[in-house]
Amino acid sequence: MRRRHDPARPLPSEITPSERYYNRREIMASLAALGAVGMGPASAGAASARLKFARNPQLSLNEAPNSLEDITTYNNFYEFGTEKDDPAKRSQKFRARPWTVKISGEAARTGTYELDDLLRPHALEERIYRLRCVEAWSMVVPWVGFPLGDLLKRFEPNSRAKYVAFKTVLRPSEMPGQRFPVLDWPYVEGLRIDEAMHPLTLVAVGLYGQTLPNQNGAPLRLVVPWKYGFKGIKSIVEIRFTEKQPPTSWNLSAPHEYGFYANVNPSVDHPRWSQASERRIGAALFAPRRNTLPFNGYAEQVAALYRGLDLRKHY
Ligand code: MTE
Repeated sequence: MRRRHDPARPLPSEITPSERYYNRREIMASLAALGAVGMGPASAGAASARLKFARNPQLSLNEAPNSLEDITTYNNFYEFGTEKDDPAKRSQKFRARPWTVKISGEAARTGTYELDDLLRPHALEERIYRLRCVEAWSMVVPWVGFPLGDLLKRFEPNSRAKYVAFKTVLRPSEMPGQRFPVLDWPYVEGLRIDEAMHPLTLVAVGLYGQTLPNQNGAPLRLVVPWKYGFKGIKSIVEIRFTEKQPPTSWNLSAPHEYGFYANVNPSVDHPRWSQASERRIGAALFAPRRNTLPFNGYAEQVAALYRGLDLRKHY
């Protein structure tokens, strides 16, 4: 996202054909049903565990997901460095357990919660979403998670709760990128409360049936599929209900380039490049670019949230 060359990487990884992927998924789901859920071999560095979940085909794209390798080696997670392969290489020492999340601000129930207590009431589901990065590339990811709204409602936000602010952990001893002032650490993000409560907005705790690898935001992150990927804040330690629009890291860093809303919008260019099309990570080198869809293809579900708002001004 900074003024640096986006390194062209070799693209040997093919997209997993969906039949093969689903066979594998079904095997894993049945293992989980048999109680074989537990620590497994590291799929992408950090120890991972299989998750129990149900697929949600209604809210999933009908597209083959990218390979696990693509999803776990081509990352933006500036806490571990600014190159795409830095997070995979430099996040191995990060400890995603034990973990607590502080809930604060305009709500009846606030406090600091152990991750397991926070997650326990929520049934997990798998949803295949496209991740559209503001850098004009995309990926298709089989996330495992649950609606953020279900979590937020438990804290009984009051009528002053107009926004929700999120914060990533600040841990420079384990996150080497935080030793440099690339961004104003810790990374922060925000959503309007109706965006946060929208049923498409996910708290992701896993992908490809396993707990999140460190480089993808372990142990919990946001996924907001109609917005550019940077709204998907990783490794969340604080959720705050606020009356005023909260600051967001990329907006603070480059306000003319990254707005608060960050809705995927092919007709509003980034000041330095077009947003009209996108490159699918993992596709053949000369594969044609894809047209970017308004709201990343979710216009029918979310356009009403922005009725009356000038989306050129509120980019
Ligand atoms: N969250 C934190 N804490 N730090 C980051 O640098 N990068 C964002 C977002 N969340 C980022 C973050 C950006 S720019 C993108 S595109 C997505 O994470 C990438 O998610 P992925 O690496 O799982 O594909």
